[in-house]
Amino acid sequence: MQYLKNSKKKKVVNQSQMKKMKVDKKTRVSKHVVDDVVNPIYQTVSTWVAASEKSRAQLNNICGRLVSIGAPVVLLQLITMVFLSTGGITESLDMVEYFAGEQAVTRAWAQAGYRSCPFEIKLNSMADILSTPGFCMALLMALMTKNFGFAMIATVCSTWVFVNRSTSRRTVWSPLGDERVKSVALANVMVSRMSLILWVLEAKRCLWLYEQPQTSLLFQHPRMQQFVESCVVFKIHCWMGSYGASSPKGTHLWGPHADIQKFILPLPCKTWAPLVTKKTLADGRVQVSGNSDLKGSQAYPPAFGHATVGVWKMAVERPLPPVKKLPKIWGGKVDKWPDADLSDVFQFLSMGTMK
Ligand SMILES: C[S@@+](CC[C@H](N)C(=O)[O-])C[C@H]1O[C@@H](n2cnc3c(N)ncnc32)[C@H](O)[C@@H]1O
Repeated sequence: MQYLKNSKKKKVVNQSQMKKMKVDKKTRVSKHVVDDVVNPIYQTVSTWVAASEKSRAQLNNICGRLVSIGAPVVLLQLITMVFLSTGGITESLDMVEYFAGEQAVTRAWAQAGYRSCPFEIKLNSMADILSTPGFCMALLMALMTKNFGFAMIATVCSTWVFVNRSTSRRTVWSPLGDERVKSVALANVMVSRMSLILWVLEAKRCLWLYEQPQTSLLFQHPRMQQFVESCVVFKIHCWMGSYGASSPKGTHLWGPHADIQKFILPLPCKTWAPLVTKKTLADGRVQVSGNSDLKGSQAYPPAFGHATVGVWKMAVERPLPPVKKLPKIWGGKVDKWPDADLSDVFQFLSMGTMK
């Protein structure tokens, strides 16, 4: 038995190991150094190389598909920064539910055996799409969703609907409304950010469903219009009352597939509780305001969640868009989407990347 010198932790070696070490002396490196130190380092580096090649191919793929559907360059820049800071992404989610609230859709997908993920501020304060980490998380979730997966989106509708028009001042021709009102300005940023995420879901040919109450002007937002003009988008009218909700709640669903018509079901014939109160003012004008049941009507009935699984299963898969050559993303004049308030997001993603 001998003690091996120059080893921090003294290691006991036997005669046969000593013989092996003598052979290695020719190369001036003892075998234990090769086995225990050098090889693991080589292995680590080759894992990095493989991971970086895989991640580069993945990045090229998603960005190339985004180019072919006409996505904005700022999105390619954001995604590049996500890849640089995460070192690659695992596409492991079957579905994601943005603004999940009571999570009826997420639950239905989990019950059906799919990997589902909710994004909701009430579940985790970090999941705030208006915050920098929250938006990065939302973007990451879209990137982690599998090609041909599913996404449910129900952005906060309060400033977009008819009952809020006297405050929001939104109209079809001035959809951004009165941006001096904080809730209106924040809702506009929220939709700009969500529309960026929509491009990612579309490039992956996910079946995405964007839900809004029937009076919402959200799709008049210029960024939503930009998206709708580049892609094929369908819109249908259905009733949450058809899925067991306590009020009829006329709902609009936008999606990339004609199959979303399958959500249109007959509305049961019964007496429903009203969600708004109408009051005639002294000058004869009618004042409409939401009552206490309006907020509660936001949550989807469980049957609607199960319907999303059924419609997705039956929907015909659309072919993935081709991977096009990327434009120059590091230089040149790029629309930085100031309306999505991205400067802090870029700052956050650049940490540790030297970019
Ligand atoms: C229109 S509701 C969606 C309700 C949902 N469809 C359900 O079935 O319960 C909008 C949801 O967005 C959430 N939310 C509001 N602001 C948010 C933010 N900044 N980031 C993420 N989620 C937010 C609310 O908590 C609310 O649950």
